[in-house]
Amino acid sequence: MKHTKIIDLLNNTKTLQEVTAKGWVRTFRNNQFIALNDGSTINNIQCVVDFENTAEEVLKRITTGAAVSVTGTLLESQGKGQSVEIQVSKIEILGDSNPEEYPIQPKRHSLEFLRENAHLRVRTNAFSAIMRVRSTLSFAVHQYFQERGFFYVNTPIITGSDAEGAGEMFKVTALPFDGTPRTEEGKVNYKEDFFGKETNLTVSGQLEAETYAMALGQVYTFGPTFRAENSNTSRHLAEFWMIEPEVAFNDLDANMDLAEDFIKYVIKYTLDKCADDLKFLEERLLQEEKSKPQAERSEMSLLEKLNFVLDNNFKRVSYTEAIDILKNSTPNKKKKFNYIIEEWGADLQSEHERFLVEKHFKCPVILFDYPANIKAFYMRLNENTEPGKETVRAMDILFPGIGEIVGGSQREERLDVLIEKMKALGIEEEELWWYLDTRRFGSAVHSGFGLGFERLVLFVTGMTNIRDVIPFPRTPQNAEF
Ligand code: 4AD
Ligand code: MG
Repeated sequence: MKHTKIIDLLNNTKTLQEVTAKGWVRTFRNNQFIALNDGSTINNIQCVVDFENTAEEVLKRITTGAAVSVTGTLLESQGKGQSVEIQVSKIEILGDSNPEEYPIQPKRHSLEFLRENAHLRVRTNAFSAIMRVRSTLSFAVHQYFQERGFFYVNTPIITGSDAEGAGEMFKVTALPFDGTPRTEEGKVNYKEDFFGKETNLTVSGQLEAETYAMALGQVYTFGPTFRAENSNTSRHLAEFWMIEPEVAFNDLDANMDLAEDFIKYVIKYTLDKCADDLKFLEERLLQEEKSKPQAERSEMSLLEKLNFVLDNNFKRVSYTEAIDILKNSTPNKKKKFNYIIEEWGADLQSEHERFLVEKHFKCPVILFDYPANIKAFYMRLNENTEPGKETVRAMDILFPGIGEIVGGSQREERLDVLIEKMKALGIEEEELWWYLDTRRFGSAVHSGFGLGFERLVLFVTGMTNIRDVIPFPRTPQNAEF
């Protein structure tokens, strides 16, 4: 018999029909009640086994983690919190799961333990909820842009360009099968990696996306990006996914409008589509909060936090205004900032960003017009700034609990200014000849931004470690599988 997804069974009001469900046993109580989950929803369906007429051998094999197929009658449930259950007439064990060996037990495991079992952690309620939310968010990303006439561009993963100029990249190296670098005679030269050229894994698809924006008008990328930063923070991954829209004829204000509208749309979409998962994650967080001292507890629940973002305008503040605020603030009575901003021109540290968002404005903040010398070469130089106080049309969006979630800018569209800037930073014109062509032929005002997808998933799920919102996190400690 064809099986039906559990989410559809639970939404079914037509009881008394014969149904088949397939899934994995979460728990088996009193030799009678199976909580069955198939991943289609956070909710389990209760399957009531007629244990008197089921072989002892079969009952013994209904253990946490086992894959089973159950056939029976769908009945209105007498139990609390469930609409229907299956009165089982036939059960088949599809795959055993030895309870002595299976690492995922029906109890709360620590996140550290689950990280070591990244291939199994999605079988827990929390991780299945997170990964469904992640999937829904990615669909919302495409839907937002596609509905508005943006074109999806796939930019290269292996590239010779370094979009951010940060110099923290993974080099691509070609090795023969046995892993030993060959000599020149053996053709593959360890040092020359990509068939004689130096290449790296992309840090951003922006520069390539810009070339497409200058032909297709509105484009976006959504793909993996790589940073070889050896940082062990809860906000950084070596491999993360980035969404990068790029729009011809948009200035910085239009760029900010787009980013704010986009973020609100994908959050709203996910709130609607993933109500059960978000409710579960909210409850999980509430439990966690209870173990914290009162003063450290969050003022808002997860859903309140998400709705707050939807209902409030992001506060737009220039870098210069932000520095003035920081100079005149003490983060709390007892403690000063570890690093005090005294000079205009210094880069903000994450403690400053968090102060602005969480203590001062208490809402998402868009910081713009940063000092030119702390931002990338491609950002548009503002006119009429004081000498020594040059700024660029950059914007960063800062989120409570997350810090920077978006980095973007209006791009420098003037060929001469761009070349000048590259020269000052020692970037060879020949290296980016193709990029400069966009300014040579039909240049125009254009803007874009990059949103770190995992940071968005962190915010929406209320999780606190970025390793817990991507299926297989790549960090300095973790690249096993
Ligand atoms: O601020 P970033 O470095 O900007 C760029 O790469 C631009 N080229 C984007 C553009 O204008 N098209 O990175 C953009 C965002 C950050 O705001 C952050 O959310 C995320 O990417 N990000 C990371 N996320 C996880 N792990 C890391 N190591 C990250 N580095 C950046
Ligand atoms: Mg940035």
